[in-house]
Amino acid sequence: MTGIHVGIIMDGNGRWAKQRGLPRTFGHREGARSVRRVVEAAPGLGIETLTLYAFSVDNWRRPRPEISALMRLFHRHLRAETAEMVERGIRLSVVGRTDRLPARVHAAVEAAERATEGGERMHLRLAIDYSARDAIVAAAEHLRSTDVEISRESMSAAIGAVTRCPSGSPDMDLLIRTSGEQRLSDFMLWE
Ligand code: FPP
Repeated sequence: MTGIHVGIIMDGNGRWAKQRGLPRTFGHREGARSVRRVVEAAPGLGIETLTLYAFSVDNWRRPRPEISALMRLFHRHLRAETAEMVERGIRLSVVGRTDRLPARVHAAVEAAERATEGGERMHLRLAIDYSARDAIVAAAEHLRSTDVEISRESMSAAIGAVTRCPSGSPDMDLLIRTSGEQRLSDFMLWE
């Protein structure tokens, strides 16, 4: 493993749209367009793992219509981009829970993960229904149910397992927050 791990907290979409007199969901749509550009450029920049914070556990408290618009966006993009991800050697996985997603989004995630599982150029991880604190708690609970001793290494491995990255969740080298704010907001706290 030589490549770097970059994380992006994709916020500021709502504010971007508001400044232009547009509804917040336009901002999310534009955000999804930039995801495409970032994913295209990343492998050529030596990025081996790219983790995008697209939806936090906390985001379930947003207004229903905004949540639905985001779920539609995830569904549409997952389906539309899968073939190209396969072509570009990108492996996609979702870190976070998938069981609370609408059924069709869940199915699209599974189909995209399955179709791209052979990708070796870059690992694209979408953090959806994700909370770093929940992941740490789940990892601790997982370890408690085994005979494995608690250590940094075993916790790292357990966090990999609960975030659906059996090979481990690599340490992060660079974190970008698109709005320019400087908070972690429950993203990759262990990593
Ligand atoms: C939070 O900030 C941002 C979100 C809840 C959504 C982020 C999702 C995307 C950019 C779409 C990603 C699409 C794919 C296909 C992965 P906010 O935009 O509500 O920001 P603000 O209120 O801070 O301006």
